[in-house]
Amino acid sequence: MAASSFTSLPNEGDQESQGYQTTYKRCNDIIPTLPRDTGWWLSNLCQYQGFWLSSSHAILGLMLVQDHFMSKPTDIILATSPKCGTTWLRALIFATINRTSYDFATHPLLTNNPQALVPFLEGHIRVNDSTSFLESLPSPRFLSTHIPYSLFPDSMKTSGPKFVYVCRNPKDVLVSKWKFAEKMRPKEMPPLSLQDAFELFCNGVSHYGPFWDHVLSYWKASLETPETVLFLIYEDMKREPLVQVKRLAEFLGKPFSPEEEREGVVQEIVRLCSFKNLSTLEVNKSIISTEYFVQNPYFFRKGEVGDWENHLTPEMVARLDQITKEKLEGILCDKWKVRIDLSREENDGEQSTDQLPTPRSE
Ligand code: A3P
Repeated sequence: MAASSFTSLPNEGDQESQGYQTTYKRCNDIIPTLPRDTGWWLSNLCQYQGFWLSSSHAILGLMLVQDHFMSKPTDIILATSPKCGTTWLRALIFATINRTSYDFATHPLLTNNPQALVPFLEGHIRVNDSTSFLESLPSPRFLSTHIPYSLFPDSMKTSGPKFVYVCRNPKDVLVSKWKFAEKMRPKEMPPLSLQDAFELFCNGVSHYGPFWDHVLSYWKASLETPETVLFLIYEDMKREPLVQVKRLAEFLGKPFSPEEEREGVVQEIVRLCSFKNLSTLEVNKSIISTEYFVQNPYFFRKGEVGDWENHLTPEMVARLDQITKEKLEGILCDKWKVRIDLSREENDGEQSTDQLPTPRSE
């Protein structure tokens, strides 16, 4: 990555910009030295501090956050591994914390994609005047990130922002990401085969991967400091959205009052943010903007639990389950119907389909 390819160089002169320039330079020096592997769409992925990031913007964004981001105790940070439900949680948290400011009939989520309402931390910090932009946001600031918990500076973990993490069955994440790559790859590139996507994913070579290390970083943090890290699961959100949204509101220090519950506010939020509602809004159906790297419709596909069944072979399922079992040390395996006893296919080399996890019903 050449220095000249960074488009938004900081202004020279003031001290803050000079600090940014030091980070830019360090980033440019480090990137050519990093392990590199195939990307899912345009750029290669580079391994930095144990995670695979797109070589240019993601690494620079991470470094700038580590060097310069000043968190506030009132910050709310939605953290996800890509394709785990970022869009959904952006909408749900936005609607929950701003519920007294907007009418459901004229709500901003009806005319804006959630990415337009929730700044992406490592993306916005790259922009020239990002510090003042982030500083200018009213409290509580609500930001989203893909940065693993372990890569945030300690000062940020102790200064009190609340992290909401959502994770998802890796088998569904793989399928979702593979389908997303179809949309993101330029027409002149051949399609990424499922087999190639599978190999990359299993080897940890996916954005902010290894997926399992990302999950573990937040899982551990949620056990150590449950008051600052809430760990949510996509499958639970789908099964019992009302329960999970109430949990979310309590964690954020904004529990629903009995009156709000009686008036159906929780139901309204869940309905507003549902896949069915958001995916059919005009703003989320049409490709209208060059402002964002990802076009609004690309964030919506099926929004279901268990679509992996329609795509993954038994061998793929067995290998993914094996990795999940080993890496997550048993946690979340029941949620994701990971086969714990994999000894038979380890011995026989093959697994019959009748032993595969049954799909999770909605
Ligand atoms: P699928 O590809 O399985 O359909 P992210 O927002 O982290 O990029 O994740 C995208 C995934 O979340 C996609 O999954 C997408 O369809 C799903 N999704 C988007 N909005 C959703 C919503 N409101 N409710 C549930 N799932 C949603």
